[in-house]
Amino acid sequence: MHVDGKPYRTIWTVDPSGPVTIIDQTRLPHEFALVGLTSVAETAKAIKHMLVRGAPLIGVTAAYGLALAMRADPSDAHLSAASEMLLATRPTAVNLAWALATMRAHLVPLPQAKRSDAAFARAAELAEEDVALCAAIGDHGHALIRDIATKKTGTPVNILTHCNAGWLATVDWGTATAPIYKAHNAGLPIHVFVDETRPRNQGASLTAWELSQHGIPHHVIVDNAGGHLMQHGEIDLVIVGTDRTTATGDVCNKIGTYLKALAAKDNGVPFFVAAPSPSIDFAVFDGVKEIPIEERGEDEVSFIQGATADGRIERVRLTPQTSSAANPAFDVTPARLVTGLITERGILAASEAALAAAFPERITHKE
Ligand code: MRU
Repeated sequence: MHVDGKPYRTIWTVDPSGPVTIIDQTRLPHEFALVGLTSVAETAKAIKHMLVRGAPLIGVTAAYGLALAMRADPSDAHLSAASEMLLATRPTAVNLAWALATMRAHLVPLPQAKRSDAAFARAAELAEEDVALCAAIGDHGHALIRDIATKKTGTPVNILTHCNAGWLATVDWGTATAPIYKAHNAGLPIHVFVDETRPRNQGASLTAWELSQHGIPHHVIVDNAGGHLMQHGEIDLVIVGTDRTTATGDVCNKIGTYLKALAAKDNGVPFFVAAPSPSIDFAVFDGVKEIPIEERGEDEVSFIQGATADGRIERVRLTPQTSSAANPAFDVTPARLVTGLITERGILAASEAALAAAFPERITHKE
């Protein structure tokens, strides 16, 4: 996608002896800064402190982290230690474990002398695959938006999205935003309501920035506004991303997604989840009971970050010093509240049967 008219991806290498370049997402929308990662430790830090974030991008970044580890020391012991270090960064998005398992399956059988080059090549393949998955989700979701647009005869299709499941959360296109970009590029009138997404404000900071860069009309709304807008017929469709979708179609995503799904159900608004297959965990069946929910630090709730009039990025305190804060970062929307899953293989019911039929190769049969 584009930044000031220039095409970018969220992660890239120029040559396998140089750094892995990322966009520092903690500085956006105020500053567009690139960071070069040169070691697995730096990569783990970048994931943990959310310079990169979003389930698909976390996975691809971890893959490059293993490549950096193999460049430094291609031994079995280092491969295991580096995988563990990366796996410990964030617990909820399954893409992290998926990417590490994919990389390890590729690297373990290889002689050590070949592992570094092979790891960079495989990480680059995972990045390309991610772009292709998101583009396919974009095509399926575009058709959905087109159908709604046809009924609205020229007035904009109003889409609500939560957090940032945009191109910044993936390698390119985004998951929830891919249908929006494709529909917009095809000339359909679109308007997006962007949930600010406290506490880290990925909607207000990242999704709004992306949409601005692409000239897509949008309004940032506070997290509590969605239900009201739905009651007044101002939302045609909700599309969100996912950090982990279960084999039964429960959707774990950024905290607050569940409340949007409840409001959508109550108001008859279609609630779709853009779910690339690496975000589906076929080993988990009950999202509420089984998915580990990341608890992040209190400071994300107690403080808020923004830019001063002279452009400095600063944090200010919101809450009394005497108040503690709790910060669960994700929640689970039960499958019954999900209208459909937009996957790379089409739009599916959020059900075990539909997921198993679409992804038979991912089903490991129990004896
Ligand atoms: O904590 P984050 O910013 O990594 O959370 C991101 C989300 O919850 C996204 O909606 C999800 O990863 C899907 S991204 C395509």
